[in-house]
Amino acid sequence: MAGERVGGAAPDASGGAAGDVASGGAAISLAGKVALVTGAGRGIGAATARLLATCGAAVVVADVQEQWGAETVAAIQAAGGQATFVRTDVAQDGDAARAVHGACEVFGGLHVLVNNAGTTLRKRLEDTMPDEWDAVLRSNLTGCYLLSRHAIPAIRESGGGSIVHVASWHARASVPRFAAYVAAKGGMVALTRQMALDCGPSGIRVNAVAPGIVDTPRWQGYLEALPAEQRTAARDETLRLQPLGRIGTPRDVANAIAFLASDQAAYVSGATLFVDGGMGARLAHV
Ligand SMILES: NC(=O)c1ccc[n+]([C@@H]2O[C@H](COP(=O)([O-])OP(=O)(O)OC[C@H]3O[C@@H](n4cnc5c(N)ncnc54)[C@H](O)[C@@H]3O)[C@@H](O)[C@H]2O)c1
Repeated sequence: MAGERVGGAAPDASGGAAGDVASGGAAISLAGKVALVTGAGRGIGAATARLLATCGAAVVVADVQEQWGAETVAAIQAAGGQATFVRTDVAQDGDAARAVHGACEVFGGLHVLVNNAGTTLRKRLEDTMPDEWDAVLRSNLTGCYLLSRHAIPAIRESGGGSIVHVASWHARASVPRFAAYVAAKGGMVALTRQMALDCGPSGIRVNAVAPGIVDTPRWQGYLEALPAEQRTAARDETLRLQPLGRIGTPRDVANAIAFLASDQAAYVSGATLFVDGGMGARLAHV
């Protein structure tokens, strides 16, 4: 398991190993490492937790949804990996502390933190109620802060490691009606740079990935919520914006996270890696 090749074209959307075509990328090993992944019950977080385990890490699956978290743990264990679930609402300081404590207690330390959990909201600023604003900021930016605050001493005591924030292409360029989400993700990118400065002397690298449009339950939920007559048009329009002719898979993002988590990214810190299939390179949608 350890040392599985990470890479390949159009990997399967489930985050599993099928379709993971070795493409000459270097092998990534996280053998002997302990990783904590938030929002690991489904989508990008689940794919990341599964991949990190395949690369040899013992994984703490942290999610607010117990059933989804248990499913991720079961999938990792069925594949021969090590995982445990800690119910975690990343917006709660006590939960963040418990998740980090769980990693140290069950697996003896912590080396990798992936701040992936987060909710979104499609609203203009003037339509966003204060409680909605708070909810989006808390699940994304504050969650990042809380988990990192507890994880940094644990990673330092474990000999150093890597923190990866899952931001978004929205942090660089957006579309109308994403005010709170853009503020949260932009904050995470700025925080990435600041944390890289502050954590570097402790041997902790801090980076972000900024996914484009990724085929997760969240994305499917967005499409399903549209009136049927708009659904196909929305899908087609999204595809039209993709230089590679497809949207991302959870595994595409997990591959980038695994790299940043690993020693192969030993001299990478303070970076935001866009995993958007080139979508952000387009000046105008023509
Ligand atoms: N899907 C995309 O197109 C896309 C694009 C850019 C960035 N992202 C970012 O990637 C991350 C994952 O997105 P996804 O599409 O896989 O989402 P998703 O909604 O499919 O899954 C999110 C997971 O996070 C968990 N979660 C939500 N709030 C939580 C909280 N407060 N505490 C703990 N767990 C919580 C959910 O239970 C779920 O398991 C998010 O931060 C999202 O903003 C997604």
